[in-house]
Amino acid sequence: MADTQKKPVKIVETILRDAHQSLLATRMSTEQMLPIIEKMDKVGYHSVECWGGATFDASLRFLKEDPWERLRKLKAGFKNTKLQMLFRGQNILGYNHYADDVVEYFVQKSIANGIDIIRIFDCLNDIRNLETAVKATNREKGHAQIALSYTLGDAYTLDYWKDIAKRIEDMGADSLCIKDMAGLLTPYAADELVHALKEGTSLPIDLHTHYTSGVASMTYLKAVEAGCDIIDCAMSPLALGTSQPATEVMVETFRGTPYDTGYDLSLLAEIAEYFRPIREEALASGLLNPKVLGVNIKTLQYQVPGGMLSNLVSQLKEAGQEDKYQDVLEEIPRVRKDFGEPPLVTPSSQIVGTQAVMNVISGERYKLVPKESKKIMMGEFGQTVKPFDPVVQRKIIGDAEPITCRPADLIEPELPKFEKECAQWKQQDEDVLSYALFPAVAKEFFQYREAQQTKIDQAAADKESKAYPV
Ligand code: CO
Repeated sequence: MADTQKKPVKIVETILRDAHQSLLATRMSTEQMLPIIEKMDKVGYHSVECWGGATFDASLRFLKEDPWERLRKLKAGFKNTKLQMLFRGQNILGYNHYADDVVEYFVQKSIANGIDIIRIFDCLNDIRNLETAVKATNREKGHAQIALSYTLGDAYTLDYWKDIAKRIEDMGADSLCIKDMAGLLTPYAADELVHALKEGTSLPIDLHTHYTSGVASMTYLKAVEAGCDIIDCAMSPLALGTSQPATEVMVETFRGTPYDTGYDLSLLAEIAEYFRPIREEALASGLLNPKVLGVNIKTLQYQVPGGMLSNLVSQLKEAGQEDKYQDVLEEIPRVRKDFGEPPLVTPSSQIVGTQAVMNVISGERYKLVPKESKKIMMGEFGQTVKPFDPVVQRKIIGDAEPITCRPADLIEPELPKFEKECAQWKQQDEDVLSYALFPAVAKEFFQYREAQQTKIDQAAADKESKAYPV
């Protein structure tokens, strides 16, 4: 590349989604977001990731907020900046496969309410599970970004990434994201990977990583030098640790180079100033655990995402077998191999982790098998990059015949049923989608919303009767 050629790197700002999901248990409220978005809108970000992932569930469940209302408010404030969401393929924002009609309707409503870019991924990188969402995004004139879950293992050669990148382009993606949820991508590996992807595809390449293992900002530097077009960063008060590299730091890193973003550092400093008290309060209340801000080298050692490690500890604690931690860490790669070597990301990370714990505490491998392990071995999550271990598969599913088609091909349309079930609570079209994904949580939210409305009506009536005494 000629050094004189300008090629500003684009930045996705994640503070309104991944950063607070990773550091603050997804608890940032719309009220905390709104006062700063006018300033954020002036930065010139490629996009602001602000919706999807766990934010939808957390809004309904913990914040008693309507996620759709949040999206509309953000859209009203971000007049110049594209809004981005994270979408779990055929699982949408949930943990099961949904019928195509639900996936299509969710995409349609997300775009109608303000989303510009939909980042779509599948935990097995089975691209058949992305088809419906990508096609629906194309149809609604949204930007379909396909994210590949990054992982290490025998199957994941540079040829694998190059080949799947090509297939993604053919499928109708507008850009490609490498989703390194565990922070496994080291700087020189990123250089090789980006070069290989650029050979496989002409799509813009976005790199998404987490700081968990401490290498992330170096990884971005090498990736950008190799031709990576977009990087995901978070404003410094909610950066580093299990979150992303800091936006201001990356902006200054590229200042005066061909990759210069041109962003105004004083403006970024003002935005950081706004978020700092939110960090301080979260540290004081314990919502932000200082532990997650450090470097977790176990991530690189065992190639296991940080969140999965803490789950293992609590599962072992519950069983009173904390001394088996090391055994479980060693069992995880073996289970992963038996299960076709999938990436470890929701929900495959939970399935592999739980199975490893059961194998260790029961003292016999696959003696105890949770139903999700059965589902994976039945092909109900889709196809893994390598075949399942045939002996393990037989032990788990017996003589049952596994499916080989796209799992959603076997699911009948579901919307009419969901419409009927939530009819009594429905106040807007989107309510059926909240209900489809999280029935119990949505119902509870709808009841809360009605109670609030009754309270407001009552207060208005009281005020009126006072104003006009009879
Ligand atoms: Co992430």
